[in-house]
Amino acid sequence: MPTLDAVSADITTLDVDVVVNAAKPSLLGGGGVDGAIHRAAGPELLDFCRTLGGCEAGDAKISPGFGLLAPWIVHTVGPIWRGGTNGEPDLLASCYRRSLELADGVGADSVAFPAISTGVYGYPVDAAAKVALAAVRNTDTTVGRVLFVCFSDSSRRHYDDLL
Ligand code: APR
Repeated sequence: MPTLDAVSADITTLDVDVVVNAAKPSLLGGGGVDGAIHRAAGPELLDFCRTLGGCEAGDAKISPGFGLLAPWIVHTVGPIWRGGTNGEPDLLASCYRRSLELADGVGADSVAFPAISTGVYGYPVDAAAKVALAAVRNTDTTVGRVLFVCFSDSSRRHYDDLL
């Protein structure tokens, strides 16, 4: 069981083994955390992502970190919020589980997650934090440290309350 922490930070600046990206199915970049990661990693990331063949919601793919401090980026596609009764919690949990599986595959010790789906994809922050924590706690992993990276203090308070 990894140690779990919530931090307020720009995820692109963190010195961890894996930075997780909240990507779109094409994996070809976008706004939000996806745009920030592509800007910080540089154009080689987009070239690499073109070779990955996209990604379905709930699944994840891995790339090198290129210009990031982190050697690896896991790109996962969260569910679009459609009221919560269309499989969103299971798909969101699957994002965290699959990301940890890929992190295990490269022997990562530390992984930083953004609050997947809580921006453009509209998932309520408090509900998403509950799913994120439960999914990480219920996944068997060799990762030693998981950071939940919040971009606002209000988002971080949800994690602090649950931790
Ligand atoms: N570091 C950490 N967190 C960030 C950063 C950053 N640099 N930038 C944004 N965030 C936070 C947002 O505040 C939000 O809480 O990441 C969370 C996820 O928001 P989005 O990036 O909008 O991701 P998501 O809701 O999963 O939507 C994915 O957005 O940009 C597109 O290509 C992406 O189409 C995909 C969709």
